[in-house]
Amino acid sequence: MASELKIQVNERIFTVAAAPDTPLLYVLSDELQLQGPRFGCGLAQCGSCSVLVNGVETRSCATPVSAVVGKSVTTLEGLPAWYAKQKKLAHAPALHPVQQALIDEQAVQCGYCFNGMIIKASELLSKTPQPTEAQIRSAMNGHLCRCGAYPRIVKAIERAAEVMRGPSLSHNEAPGKTAGKTKVAEVTR
Ligand code: FES
Ligand code: FES
Repeated sequence: MASELKIQVNERIFTVAAAPDTPLLYVLSDELQLQGPRFGCGLAQCGSCSVLVNGVETRSCATPVSAVVGKSVTTLEGLPAWYAKQKKLAHAPALHPVQQALIDEQAVQCGYCFNGMIIKASELLSKTPQPTEAQIRSAMNGHLCRCGAYPRIVKAIERAAEVMRGPSLSHNEAPGKTAGKTKVAEVTR
């Protein structure tokens, strides 16, 4: 049975009508029209649906929406702003450094796994600014890439770590997404 739940996603608060055990992924994609998290296995095995919940990588396919009430959810769409907040930057960059590094290393093939890879790498670098290759491989272990782009993904994370430790990036406007369905109401804070 549907209930009204208030959830915070990408620094905005939404009221959604959903059964409490609805997977968070369905609410994000179907109700809030956020296409960053992707459906892969639906079994918490591949990582393609990952989001940050209070800064921790979380499989949204296996997380009931009621579990994130009172917490802060960040999807790929909100990641540059999340990064800017963490680094106390005046403006969010267009891309998180991990996203830019994946482009620079030409790591993207089909790109299906990249939502989860980016979310997990962002979590890793927020806690471990200078990870070893072994630490990167260990952190990324639960994220599957059917194209086998792992070596370039690791190189990109190393590059992003270097950028994040260095001087500030030039920042331009943050990407944003708005909810598009009438079922969803944004609550003014
Ligand atoms: S779709 Fe969630 S882990 Fe695979
Ligand atoms: S780039 Fe295709 S699944 Fe990873």
